[in-house]
This record gives sequence, C-alpha cells and structure tokens, in this order.
Amino acid sequence: MSLPNINPTNTNAWLNLQKHFSMMENNSIKEMFQKDSTRAEKFHIQWNDFLVDFSKNNITQETLDLLLKLTEEVNLKQAISQYFNGELINQTENRAVLHTALRAPQTATFLVDGTNVMPEIYEVKHNIEKFTHEITSGIRTGFTVKHFTDIVNIGIGGSDLGPAMVVEALQYYKNHLTVHFISNVDGDHVNEIIKKINPETTLFVIVSKTFTTQETLTNSETIRTWFLKSAKQEDVAKHFVAVSTNIQKVTEFGIDVNNIFPMWDWVGGRFSLWSAVGLSISLAVGFDNFDKLLKGANQMDEHFKNESFDKNIPVILALISVWYNNFFGAESEAIIPYTQYLQKLAPYLQQGIMESNGKSIGRDGKPVNYQTGTIIWGEPGTNSQHAFFQLIHQGTKLIPTDFIGFVTPLYGNEDHHDKLMSNFFAQTEALLNGKTSEQVQAEFDKQGMEKSKADYLKPFKVFTGNKPTNTLLIQKLTPENLGSLVAMYEHKIFVQGIIWNIFSYDQWGVELGKQLANSILEEINHKKVAEHDSSTTLLLKHFLNKAN
Ligand code: F6P
Repeated sequence: MSLPNINPTNTNAWLNLQKHFSMMENNSIKEMFQKDSTRAEKFHIQWNDFLVDFSKNNITQETLDLLLKLTEEVNLKQAISQYFNGELINQTENRAVLHTALRAPQTATFLVDGTNVMPEIYEVKHNIEKFTHEITSGIRTGFTVKHFTDIVNIGIGGSDLGPAMVVEALQYYKNHLTVHFISNVDGDHVNEIIKKINPETTLFVIVSKTFTTQETLTNSETIRTWFLKSAKQEDVAKHFVAVSTNIQKVTEFGIDVNNIFPMWDWVGGRFSLWSAVGLSISLAVGFDNFDKLLKGANQMDEHFKNESFDKNIPVILALISVWYNNFFGAESEAIIPYTQYLQKLAPYLQQGIMESNGKSIGRDGKPVNYQTGTIIWGEPGTNSQHAFFQLIHQGTKLIPTDFIGFVTPLYGNEDHHDKLMSNFFAQTEALLNGKTSEQVQAEFDKQGMEKSKADYLKPFKVFTGNKPTNTLLIQKLTPENLGSLVAMYEHKIFVQGIIWNIFSYDQWGVELGKQLANSILEEINHKKVAEHDSSTTLLLKHFLNKAN
C-alpha cells in the first residue's frame, strides 16, 4: 500500500491552524508564562534519561490540539505502521525503509518481500563483533605482523557523516585505535591523512552503499596505490575491508570476499550508521558500546511507535517545527549542543534532514504549494554564543532553536560543567524574556549614565525576546542516549515528510550535479571546453589555461 497522499493545506486542521496563527502571530511567550505558572509542567515530556521541555515556544494547548488534529487528517498513524512494517514507502526507488530493523532485538520480525531480515542483520552484527575483537585485541595484524593502530574510514555522505559524528561524540569511550575519515575527493584531504598514518599499522574501511561513488572510489584508489608502495598486492586483503551492497564491484576493486560487510538497499545512506557502516564506530569504541548505541535507538523507536502523539517526543518536535516553518515562515532551525563532543551533530543532521525533506514535489507528483524542509545549522555552545547568537537574539529572522545539554559531565569537572550549563539555561531564558527598555534604563540609571547617551544607546540594548526554543536535558552522554537522540531526529524527519506529503527517502536532487561533473571532467581531461552558458565557459577556460 502507498503512503497516504494528502495535501496538508487542504485539511480542516490546516485551515484552523491558519486562523489560529493570526491570533498567535504577535503573542508573547513571556506573558503566557506569567499567566500560567504550570506552563512548563504542561509542555514537557520526561522519558528515560530525557527531559524535553517545549514550553518556551509560541504555542498554546489549542495550537497543539490543532497540530495533533493535522496528524489525524494526514493519517500519520497509518504511515508509522507502514514505515515499521517494511512497506515500500521509498516509493520512487521502490524500497522499504528499515533502518529501525538494524537496532531491533533478535527476536523481532521485519519482513522484506515476505522474508524476515533479522537473521541476516544479526549475522552481520556478529561479524562486526568478531572483527572488532580481532583488530582491537591484536589477533589480526598488518602485513608486517604489527598491531593495527589506525583506522581510516573512506566514504562520503551517509557513509562518512554518521560514523564520523558518533566516533567524535563517543570519544570518551574510545580505545587505543585512532580513527581518521577521508571523504572529500579533494586530493589535499587524502594527502593530509596519509601524512599521519603508517601503511604497516593502518586498516582501511571503504564504505559505500553503491560502490560507485566517485569520491570514495578515487580516494580508495589513491590510498591503495600509496599502500602498495610499501606492501605487496596480497597484503591488500589484510588491510582493506569494505561495507557495501555491491559485492561484485567491491571484489572487482580487489577486496577479499571475506572482508566484505554487506548492507541492504532498504537502509538509506543517511540512516545507515546502525548497519555495518558503523564498523568504524565499533572499532573505535568497542562492539559493546556500538550495541548500546543501537539499543538506545531501539528504545526511541518503541517510544515513537507506541506512545500517544501528545506525549511522543519526535511527533511533538516535528509538529512544533511545522508550526514555525509553515505558519510563521521560519526558514531555518539551529541545533546547539552544549557539549564539544557533539560538534558534528549539526553537519550530520544537515544530511539527514535536508537530503530527506528538501523536496518540492508532493507524493501526488505535483509541485507543492507550501514550504517543506527547513535549513539546519548549528555549532556547540558556548562557542556559538560568541559567533552567531547575536543574530538569533537581535536579528530580523526567526530561528527556532534546539538546545541539547547534559546533567552530568563525563570527566566530572563540576566547575566547568556548572559554567557551561549556566550558559545553557541562561540562553533559553534570555531568548524567551529578552530585555525591556525599562530594564535597560534601570541599568543605565545604576551606572549614572547621562540622559542623552542613555537615550541614544537604549534601542541597541533592548532584546525583544519571544524567540522559541526546545530544551533537551539529557542525563549523560552515553552510547544509549546518543542512539536515542539520533533516532529521535530520524523520526522527526519521518513525521514532517508525512505531513508535507513528500517522499523523504530518495535524493534525486544530488544527481544532476554528479552527471554534469562527469561530463565536465571529460572536457577537462581532453582540455576541450564544450558548449555551456558563458559564465561556465569563462570559468572553465580560465581553469584550463592555469592548469596548462
Ligand atoms: O549524496 C548522495 C548520496 O547518495 C547519499 O545519500 C549517500 O549517503 C552518499 O551519496 C554516499 O553514497 P554511497 O554510500 O553509495 O557511496
């Protein structure tokens, strides 16, 4: 059965939300707090190690009720069961979307074409565990019988961002192996990594779902050529492993068939870190921690699947995001983790969210007449406070922001952590309340500032406040909690895709640039510029002249 095909703007809920918006547009969040001392009590969800406070948003119970009505009218419940039941909801590629199966318990059943995929998943998981043990314990060695010290993950997009984000995030749990990531086809990237590694002690993990990606194949060939300057052809089997669905292409590349970790076409690249794509994660933090990451994601899957929508974290966050995107006209959302460990979360979610929901054709095959995917950006706090927070506080744009913080620090440095978290709490409070002209004047009076100077400076020092935020306060940055957090955003993507009536699991938008790059490469190789627009011709000629 196909996913529901409903233009959200034709629903009653949408029309009612539009009417409701005209009353809420200039509403003050601060006043809602002043009028209702139980507001935070009403608008938060506590689940496992998560406290999700969404009270600092421009919403009322009526807003939520209308948004929840919208989920009924777009048949979200039905869509969720189609998602988890392995129906072909990636319709334009005729595939199921089953990354949730990768983190389900062995006893679960996930059918693809009538076959339960759990035994296959667990066979690969078992191989990941065995391989991780062999490398970390030193049972497997390099071609000069030295222990491995470095891992290089070669992949791009979903074959890079997920493992890179998690390895960085779980650094605290890391073992002795140093993990590097090569993604860009920029030769300088690969050469900078080569400078840091020794061929005798480095294991290369080539990750490519399709094994046709130009960047990954080019980087892998460069690495293999460099490796073979010190080693022999037969040593490749000891140092190169691959993760892919394309077993034939991997063997053609020269990788031993025993060194291939399979994945499946029902796992999208940007949702693949839970599969063997996460091999570098397992190597970096050990299989047990990798498994805990999966368990945490599974717990969020269960919450999403079973919890009523009014208490369902991914659903509520998705609805609030739709509210700002489609009614307030907010174009972007910021994600600000208050931990340096999550510095790669925003780039990771940029692919997850923007590659999934950056679509303008509805599930009816027609252009949509409303906004879809939001622009995602962010950096850890407090660094971001000293970079772009000025714009969030006093700029002209509305930027709904997720603040993610942890109750307990990993190294127990209370002094630092209290300072970090006081900033975390202060920012959402400042964004909510702002600073009135009276408050500014009171500060000037205290300083004894003369009137003309005070009158001049005052407008610059006022903060309007009323800037919406969600606060995710999580107990500790553990593998389980990270798994839950990532799965939470995955399901938020799903809910928004359903509401916007788009297909979230294809990515045709990345194809055109790839095709043109291939034909331009031909022109560069033959030093002959074909017909282009005059700008591209000018640039290509300049490039070729310089290259000559
Ligand atoms: O950017 C397009 C894309 O297809 C992503 O969806 C994917 O994660 C990435 O390229 C890498 O693809 P592959 O794993 O097949 O090399």
